[in-house]
Amino acid sequence: MNLYIGVDLGTSAMKLLLVASDGSILKTVSREYPLEFPQPGWSQQAPEDWKKALYEGLPELISEVDPKSVRGIGVAGQMHGLVVLDKDDKVIRPAILWNDGRTAKEVDYLNNEIGKERLSGLTANIAFAGFTAPKILWMRENEPELFARIDKIMLPKDYINYVLTGVHACDFSDASGMLLLDVKNKRWSREMLDICGVSEAQMPRLFESYETIGTLKPDIADRFGLLRDVRVAAGAGDNAAAAVGCGVVNGGDCNISLGTSGTVFIASDEFGVDRFNALHSFAHASGGYHLMGCMLSAASCNKWFVGDILGTDGYAAEEAAVTGDMLGENRVFFLPYLMGERSPINDTDARGMFIGMSMDTTRAQMVQAMLEGVAFAIRDSVEVARSLGIGITRSKICGGGAKSKLWRRMFANILNVTLEIPVTEQGPGMGGAMLAMVACGEYASVPDVCGKLVAVKSTVEPEPELVAKYEDRYAKFRKIYPSLKTLFKEIK
Ligand code: XUL
Repeated sequence: MNLYIGVDLGTSAMKLLLVASDGSILKTVSREYPLEFPQPGWSQQAPEDWKKALYEGLPELISEVDPKSVRGIGVAGQMHGLVVLDKDDKVIRPAILWNDGRTAKEVDYLNNEIGKERLSGLTANIAFAGFTAPKILWMRENEPELFARIDKIMLPKDYINYVLTGVHACDFSDASGMLLLDVKNKRWSREMLDICGVSEAQMPRLFESYETIGTLKPDIADRFGLLRDVRVAAGAGDNAAAAVGCGVVNGGDCNISLGTSGTVFIASDEFGVDRFNALHSFAHASGGYHLMGCMLSAASCNKWFVGDILGTDGYAAEEAAVTGDMLGENRVFFLPYLMGERSPINDTDARGMFIGMSMDTTRAQMVQAMLEGVAFAIRDSVEVARSLGIGITRSKICGGGAKSKLWRRMFANILNVTLEIPVTEQGPGMGGAMLAMVACGEYASVPDVCGKLVAVKSTVEPEPELVAKYEDRYAKFRKIYPSLKTLFKEIK
């Protein structure tokens, strides 16, 4: 059987998946790498660490199979990160990541001087701190010597594709998050490139996610014992790839991803922009489009509170203390804005907080509030979609956080949706492998491979009594941020 490699270039680790053409996952390998926070709200990572993870992980991944059976590779990556190479292909500075908030000034310039209407007309989106264009402006202003050396601009997964093939390429789903792509017409926006002071020659060549960008460089193929004609698909941003991995490709289908970030992803057959640009309007890896809301700290709130603050890795024990009778009754609330927030409030100064504690508040109630706070914040984006007339009553769910039964139950009841759990939670990596299968002609199209390989293993139904209780809690949660918005600016 032909084999495919899916790579998920995440924020905390690279996950590699070896997948057979019938969709069975033969092996997974994971390699962690550090994340730097050089100043509060800044977030960066060394692209060389991603390369090292690939070089270490790949031999282990294929160690028990005939490497000559591998036909294709598809990479899914954390979106929006700015990777810059000089003319000798040296990485100029650490990549500035999707959850970095240093660009408040540049975002203000783009949204208020260039203007949201013009930005939306050119790119279908407005500026958010994590997007790539404000980071380019930040580099131009703050690191002019480094900026002058830029020969190639790329996104994280495109760096890996460049290492593999030597081809400077990007797919439409990931390119959408740069704020440099004319999303509707799927081409670079000359005006946006001008605004950022960069040229098309510095930008990658554009592809559909399921197209082949090239084959392995001979030295790379030989290094891993792979055939030199292994195809590398353009791949996709991790959310679009996760949607493919979960079979979310038809108009109106929804996926929730609970990783470091939390996203609500709504596939759409037609291009469309929401009136207030509260949701991102991006191309999908299927060839269509999607709307997406992204919160910056989702499962990372759990890692921060349970791991760093409570100082334990006993996540299951912390959750077990939150018993069924406590759901919908908590008087403690948590704002999950540990890295500022993207959708829908677009505020780099927002921060996390617990509110509502009393002398009898327990540790379990605080863990509960933290988990609920993430679900409430995802609901904020779901409500924007609902206000646009998109009826969300069912959703797939994937990502590390989706493994928690308690969290899934909270999400089903807080959002009032039926959650469908796919057989694999490896959304992005699986999606990457499936895109490679289409690139190699193993399946005819992205909907075809989804229809044949994705299956749901279980569902979580909302419970009317809990939905009503959480409706009341959510109404209260919604009032907290607006009443603190100006204070967050003062205390930063
Ligand atoms: C999406 C976003 C995040 C990252 C996480 O807009 O910024 O979901 O892609 O890897």
